[in-house]
Amino acid sequence: MFSHAEGLSSMVVKVAINGYGTIGKRVADAIDAQDDMEIVGVTKTRPSFGCDLAVRKGFPLYCTFDTDEKIAAFAPAGYDCKGGLSDLLAIADIVVDCSPGKVGAQNKEIYDNAGIKHIFQGGEKHAMTGMSYTSSGNHSENMNVQGTRVVSCNTTGLSRTLVPLLHACGSLSVECTMIRRAADPGDSSKGPINAIKPVLKVPSHHGPDVMTVRPEISINSLAVAVPTTIMHVHAIVATLPEGHGMTTESVLALWSEQPRVLIMNGSETGITTTAEVMEFSRDIGRKWGDLHEIFVWEDGVKLDGNNLYYFQAIHQESDVIPENVDAIRALMGLESDWKASVLKTDEAIAAYNGL
Ligand SMILES: NC(=O)c1ccc[n+]([C@@H]2O[C@H](COP(=O)([O-])OP(=O)(O)OC[C@H]3O[C@@H](n4cnc5c(N)ncnc54)[C@H](OP(=O)(O)O)[C@@H]3O)[C@@H](O)[C@H]2O)c1
Repeated sequence: MFSHAEGLSSMVVKVAINGYGTIGKRVADAIDAQDDMEIVGVTKTRPSFGCDLAVRKGFPLYCTFDTDEKIAAFAPAGYDCKGGLSDLLAIADIVVDCSPGKVGAQNKEIYDNAGIKHIFQGGEKHAMTGMSYTSSGNHSENMNVQGTRVVSCNTTGLSRTLVPLLHACGSLSVECTMIRRAADPGDSSKGPINAIKPVLKVPSHHGPDVMTVRPEISINSLAVAVPTTIMHVHAIVATLPEGHGMTTESVLALWSEQPRVLIMNGSETGITTTAEVMEFSRDIGRKWGDLHEIFVWEDGVKLDGNNLYYFQAIHQESDVIPENVDAIRALMGLESDWKASVLKTDEAIAAYNGL
């Protein structure tokens, strides 16, 4: 295990990925791109097709469980399984838990017993670690902590545009509606496929979840699931304080200076729907067609008095990916300046993907 006495600057952090699915495989890839961290292993529950990607990437493959029978099941399918989760945790400095939502709680006990630093995903509750994370929201508060939770894709998206507004205005009151994709493209078991499904728990957890990273933002949300697999859209009304001094143009200028926020004019570019946003992402060569940035339609932003109206689109499978890399730097005490970490993360990912 890493000792701070060894010095931080030359250290390459050994990272374990527990759960190599939609988020896990992307996080592993983003970590592999960095020069201050490396993947020492990824887990699969059983020998399924996702193992092939790990093999192709050269990531050592481990079983999610420690039972001999489950570990032994990999070899007949042609996979070299190096051991169980405990074997992987023993050689890692930190584990990124990318298991399905609500499974993390049982894994937390395993990590605590192993004494290993841990990062969970947005499917887990804030209370489990008592810490949550977004790069722009609270990187410094997460420095050197034992465990945190990278918030959900929706909360990450809200944080990207609301935190700079909070800093510019001093206070913010927000009402927003999350129009959520029903399932990820790779999911065959979720719906609805022909309905709009409101989340009847009001407010939905999405908005208030922002307050786990920036409690000063007063925010509520409603949510509906719609039959699409590509992207969430947020319809946001942010009320700025009296005397805010902002204009529509200055809000856009503020966001254009933020990392991982992409502003484009829908009428000028023809990118007027989430389908075109995703096509744009594929056109520019992003791996898996991912878009780590939050997409804001310039012509959908309007400040009217104190009320700022805007839409943003969130690529649910990928906006949290670079945040996991930054969170590792915070927990391992590698970089206290969030913007420096973001720059390093994003440049390394772009170079790795030849972009
Ligand atoms: N997908 C999104 O849009 C999205 C966005 C932001 C955050 N998140 C959050 O990220 C987390 C992972 O979501 P996901 O979409 O990546 O799920 P996913 O695609 O279902 O992948 C989860 C992976 O974990 C493996 N797994 C199953 N049980 C496990 C256990 N006990 N311990 C460790 N791994 C286990 C799964 O099994 P196999 O090994 O059998 O494949 C699978 O590969 C959730 O908290 C989710 O809420 C998801």
